[in-house]
Amino acid sequence: MILSIQTVLNAFKQWRASGESCFVAYAPGRVNLIGDHTDYNDGLAMPMIMDQAIYVATRSSSSDSHLLRSENYDEEVSYPIDQWPTVPRTHWASYVAGMIREIPPPTSIEMLIMGNVPLGAGLSSSAALEIATGLALEKLNGTSIPPLDLAKIGQKVEHKYIGVKCGIMDQIVSRVGRSRHALYLDCKTLKWEHIPIEYPDIRFVVMDSRVKRQLASSKYNERRGECQRALQQIQADDSTIESIRHIQMDHIKAISDPTLQKRIRHVLLENERVKNARSAILRSDWFELGKLLSASHISLRDDYQVSCKELDVMVDQAESYTEVYGARMMGGGFGGCTINLVLEKDADLIAKSLVSESRKKLNYPVTYYSVAKGTEAGIQYFG
Ligand code: GLA
Repeated sequence: MILSIQTVLNAFKQWRASGESCFVAYAPGRVNLIGDHTDYNDGLAMPMIMDQAIYVATRSSSSDSHLLRSENYDEEVSYPIDQWPTVPRTHWASYVAGMIREIPPPTSIEMLIMGNVPLGAGLSSSAALEIATGLALEKLNGTSIPPLDLAKIGQKVEHKYIGVKCGIMDQIVSRVGRSRHALYLDCKTLKWEHIPIEYPDIRFVVMDSRVKRQLASSKYNERRGECQRALQQIQADDSTIESIRHIQMDHIKAISDPTLQKRIRHVLLENERVKNARSAILRSDWFELGKLLSASHISLRDDYQVSCKELDVMVDQAESYTEVYGARMMGGGFGGCTINLVLEKDADLIAKSLVSESRKKLNYPVTYYSVAKGTEAGIQYFG
């Protein structure tokens, strides 16, 4: 679906025909080039922004209630400003209500939400919704929240109101990610570097398995807990170790459970892969980058155990093409998407062929998206 700000604005005008005019804030979904399950372990990651984004057309109102509408779900939620909407915990309105709780606007608001980030596909539509809503609330309050602080508020909303103990990568890249750049992100120092990706010869293709697993968020929290337990065992051996970031491969021996050893091995080696991927991009060494993507997949599949049959099939299939430098599952796992590094001149052909092969094999309506320029987060006003 192609989405322009004008389309969002028109939808708002149709919904709320009279009254003050609105403004539109927006933030992109994320693809993660490499570095998964590292962010909440003080590690390294290298996400990028997508062209697809979430848009929120907003204005203040004089009512006693907030009025929210999702175009995508064709659903309206209204709730008194001093209360919480009566919706399930992971409902779209909970994300907005959480942001409103954390950045209270001076009056009630009317907000129409519309987006083309595929929902529930592991492309961080929720982080995009948090950041877009946060930008709108900044504007309504006439304040400016430093980008990192806004990202932290988004993360807090996930932890406190939604119950997903996510890391910070998705919110940061959605807020500060740049067009045609990857974000080399150090989740310990919370510093980042924009790495230019000029890619006339290659394309990043995201293949969406359309597999959505209910268990994904509980499994995610389980992995976080495992890393915490492993760290505690290492700290019992050496109290100077602050976080998994500071563990050497040798320390793994202090962990008694072999499963926990595997989890930590993934994190340590994935951090190294992110560093190497940064260098490979700066040298435009796509063969090396492809190898790193493939190694990341194997590690997520075998050591971290967050892949699934469908993602493995899609990665294996992609790697059987000589035009594909490398592929891996991406994000939290247990469904969602893979990212594939493909030779530009054959990219559409390969992507279409992968879609049709995967559909046959998996019986899911697999689809693909190309990562192009990327939509940077922003705001547009209308008089
Ligand atoms: C989800 C989380 C992120 C990150 C990834 C895995 O997308 O929101 O913080 O942990 O999973 O890398």
